[in-house]
Amino acid sequence: MAGALLEARGISKYFGAITALRDVNFHVGPGEVVGVVGDNGAGKSTLMKILSGLFVPSEGELVFDGRPVSFRSPKDAQRLGIEMVHQDFALAGNMPIYENIYLGREPGWRLGPLTVVDHRRARRMAAEHLNRLKIHVKSIDQNTEDLSGGQRQAVAIARSTAFDAKLVIMDEPTAALAIKEVGKVLDLVRSLKEHGVAVIIISHRMDDIFYCCDRVMALYQGTNFAESPLGTTSRNEVIGWIMGTKGHTQGLAHDNMH
Ligand SMILES: Nc1ncnc2c1ncn2[C@@H]1O[C@H](COP(=O)(O)OP(=O)(O)OP(=O)(O)O)[C@@H](O)[C@H]1O
Ligand SMILES: [Mg+2]
Repeated sequence: MAGALLEARGISKYFGAITALRDVNFHVGPGEVVGVVGDNGAGKSTLMKILSGLFVPSEGELVFDGRPVSFRSPKDAQRLGIEMVHQDFALAGNMPIYENIYLGREPGWRLGPLTVVDHRRARRMAAEHLNRLKIHVKSIDQNTEDLSGGQRQAVAIARSTAFDAKLVIMDEPTAALAIKEVGKVLDLVRSLKEHGVAVIIISHRMDDIFYCCDRVMALYQGTNFAESPLGTTSRNEVIGWIMGTKGHTQGLAHDNMH
């Protein structure tokens, strides 16, 4: 795929006797927002964990910026600017926002194996970064356990973009959020795109997909099923893909489905 930022070719993933993915192809361009849909167990999270270095594929290859790459851990992917916000994302609750953003990668001075954290710099950098993303919190010293679900998701996204990310992968970032907070997270996706960052967003909600994506692709039972630029498909068609049907035979009854 010419011009792709990250491409997956012929990816299969086996967990013992289970085939989670079979010969899957995927690509995302620089600054592109791709929606990934599919039923529970379709293989969405597994594919994204492979793209972000958490899982090693059983078969297939990854190509980044035209070069073959293999990731042994998320650190390898992060070095290339690939970050993932997980479905069950973990923030350290009893720590201030700014420390969560830099967790394990704090600015400071290296003394042999130790890093002396420069807290002043970390706080300033965190505040600037949140500002850039238009994320508003009362104070960056606030503990993340006191934040709302939406604010926590925003901090998790801020963390994933604090280090010159070129691609941010979000696994169902809106699933647990109230309507008002969903909008903020989706606006954050748009804001990343404006900053030239590519985003892959997994969601079961058609509103999410049709609000912020350039293209949508569907997995079905671990295989490529369908994909389209957003402008040439419809909610009904995409809902059909999730259920494993193609064509425009879905009735209006599905119009209100998320
Ligand atoms: N670590 C694992 N060990 C064994 N099987 C796994 C593992 N991770 C995923 N699977 C299996 O792989 C398949 C795909 O799972 P995956 O989590 O990728 O689905 P998903 O599309 O993200 O689903 P959901 O919408 O429910 O999050 C499922 O059958 C799942 O049980
Ligand atoms: Mg999943």
